[in-house]
Amino acid sequence: MNVPLLAMDGGDAADREDFRRAVLSGLGGSPRAIPAKFLYDARGSALFDSICEQPEYYPTRTETSILRECAADIARLAGPGCALVEYGSGSSVKTRLLLEAMPDLHAYVPIDISREHLDATARRLREDYPWLRVDPVSGDYMAIDALPSVINGARRIGFFPGSTIGNLMPEEAVLFLRRARRLLGSDGALILGIDLKKDPRLLHDAYNDAAGVTAQFTLNLLRRMNRQLDANFDLSAFAHEAFYIEAAGRIEIYFRSLRDQTVMVAGRRFTFAKGDRVHTEYSYKYDTAGIGELARQGGFSIAHTWTDPARLFAIVFLT
Ligand code: AVI
Repeated sequence: MNVPLLAMDGGDAADREDFRRAVLSGLGGSPRAIPAKFLYDARGSALFDSICEQPEYYPTRTETSILRECAADIARLAGPGCALVEYGSGSSVKTRLLLEAMPDLHAYVPIDISREHLDATARRLREDYPWLRVDPVSGDYMAIDALPSVINGARRIGFFPGSTIGNLMPEEAVLFLRRARRLLGSDGALILGIDLKKDPRLLHDAYNDAAGVTAQFTLNLLRRMNRQLDANFDLSAFAHEAFYIEAAGRIEIYFRSLRDQTVMVAGRRFTFAKGDRVHTEYSYKYDTAGIGELARQGGFSIAHTWTDPARLFAIVFLT
């Protein structure tokens, strides 16, 4: 699985209350927006996995093929006996490529908001790599400020794949890097996967796949509001909308009302005129200069960059 940000089922009361507040304030605000983290309930996470397999969605397979090529180089740059700290999900094929290239790893520390997901990941990895010490940390990786003491003394190498950093506003991305810099320490490093600027048509297609999986992913948010917030969205009366804004270097994603309508959410009435939309995601794309600038502002410098032959995606080793 390749689940970004705060994957959660929204099953417990605190998560639901968090969701309710965010939705009421997001639909009540102007412009209307709901934070992207709420896209990832169990169904949303499964749909995201399916997006990663769509022919138009090049990032996952491109990043995986770059990693296949550069895992040995990364292991050399990281050095022996280091601790690999993964931000987000730790069960994906990408993690395994690194683990296999680093047989002398001191420990693998996956950070994830979902305890359930972490436990399942740790169990599977311990089965498949009996030599590996796995020390999961449960929590929001934007807020974690300490790691298990067993890794004290080992060089800390962060791993943040999937271009999830692109879902953060640039200023949030800088904050994330500064926190990572603090957590990983002055001799630490960060392996960052980041989507590159490219032909806008390719970008457009990646977020508008022909099978409509990305559309289902966006509209799943309406389904989740119906289920968890007693809302009455008619899914056939809204559409997914994603487009690339070249000047901003980002994909913008919304759900758009197809007619004038009124929707009840958590006991409140919201009116939508035909064409009104609600923002759900940004996906920023970077060029080499932009990555360098982001790294610099975050307190890192680029030690090495790997890309694919078509320069669709980059993996950078930041120190
Ligand atoms: C998780 N993240 C990097 C994806 C992206 O490409 O921005 C999320 C996504 N949303 C729709 N398609 C993919």
